[in-house]
Amino acid sequence: MRLNQSEISHYDKQLNTREIIKKTNFKDLDESVYICDLSSVEQKLYLWQRYLPRIKPYYAVKCNNDPMIIKTLADLGTGFDCASKNELKLVLGSKVSPERIIFANPCRLISHVEYSRQQKVFDVTVDNEFEVYKLHKHYSNSNLILRFKSEAKAAKCPLGDKFGCDPNVNAAALLLLAKALDLKVTGTSFHVGSGCSEFAAYDRAIGKAKQIFDFGKLIGHKMNLLDIGGGFPGANDEEFEKIANVVNESLERDFSDPGIKIISEPGRFFVESAFTLICKIHAKREVLNAMNGKLELVMYYLNDGVFGSFNNVISYNEFVLPQHYLENEQSLPLYKSLLWGPTCDAVDKISKHIFLPHLNRGDLIGFHNMGAYTFPIASEFNGFQVPKILYFKAKKERNANECQIK
Ligand SMILES: Cc1ncc(COP(=O)(O)O)c(C=O)c1O
Repeated sequence: MRLNQSEISHYDKQLNTREIIKKTNFKDLDESVYICDLSSVEQKLYLWQRYLPRIKPYYAVKCNNDPMIIKTLADLGTGFDCASKNELKLVLGSKVSPERIIFANPCRLISHVEYSRQQKVFDVTVDNEFEVYKLHKHYSNSNLILRFKSEAKAAKCPLGDKFGCDPNVNAAALLLLAKALDLKVTGTSFHVGSGCSEFAAYDRAIGKAKQIFDFGKLIGHKMNLLDIGGGFPGANDEEFEKIANVVNESLERDFSDPGIKIISEPGRFFVESAFTLICKIHAKREVLNAMNGKLELVMYYLNDGVFGSFNNVISYNEFVLPQHYLENEQSLPLYKSLLWGPTCDAVDKISKHIFLPHLNRGDLIGFHNMGAYTFPIASEFNGFQVPKILYFKAKKERNANECQIK
């Protein structure tokens, strides 16, 4: 198999990484390679519709802006959460109509606001008075969605220090200011934090959203949109089901009116498990105990690191678990090992101490669940290339109607 990044290869029943590795010339490449399963993204939408049928997902582009992912979700009919002019361009360029987009960065550059106005992307989030004035001046017929802060007690990446007005202190004042400036506030939004592990956070936030809705309506805003943000797990469907149960119950209690449109901004949910990263060991060092000369640690140097795909190890505290592709793996002795990235920076440490069989230069190792907040953030620091992507899709496609958003 040759490497061609614009082609989609098809597989029969299940994507088999070992088989792909056998057939592909990964070992000859300098850079790491992603194996992307586009059918997995489709299956995620199926899962979403099964457990959260009332909520329309607006995929958070920042999580993984690969054009093939955007196209896959665009064809399936999802909405999109964009944070910048370039993200808007990417999504609009994938034949997505502006009403399927929310511009969900509450602090925007004026040129980006103007671009959204020209493109008629009406739904924009806001969380402070300066942005309200900015919209008044540059996009007065937009639909303001008031973002408030309501965080989970535990999340991989909390967002509340940066975004969201205080629902008790500022929300009412912002709603009144918008009213005084003759701006429309049409809804409210929150984000409990990316990689949320306190599910009750959704219940608390939905309860607060209800109060903001009620006050907005009281002062004459036509509130008709609730945006419950992101935070859903990408590689744990059981946890997703549990969150969905919490969300559904809270919506039933506070937003049972079917006239209210409910949307969400899932990022990692759709893409995390769709990507496996294949790295090559290009160098190795054995550390011996100074006293007895015994092998203490084997250090492997990979062709990707924390300034590349593994930036999630630093920014999201991810723990990445490698998979080797040696034969007879059950019977192989294991050694304390450490994985480093390719740069000359000592921060470039991928793993803590882990146990691996004896590997050699040229051997490949894979990492599952690498689709969220990885390569879009990767840099070419120290002159190392960012990875390539190979796309795969199941031959027997799920009946398109089954998971298409109408
Ligand atoms: C405004 C906004 N929406 C959605 C997301 C996606 O979150 P997640 O990937 O946790 O679903 C983020 C992530 O940072 C965000 O900032």
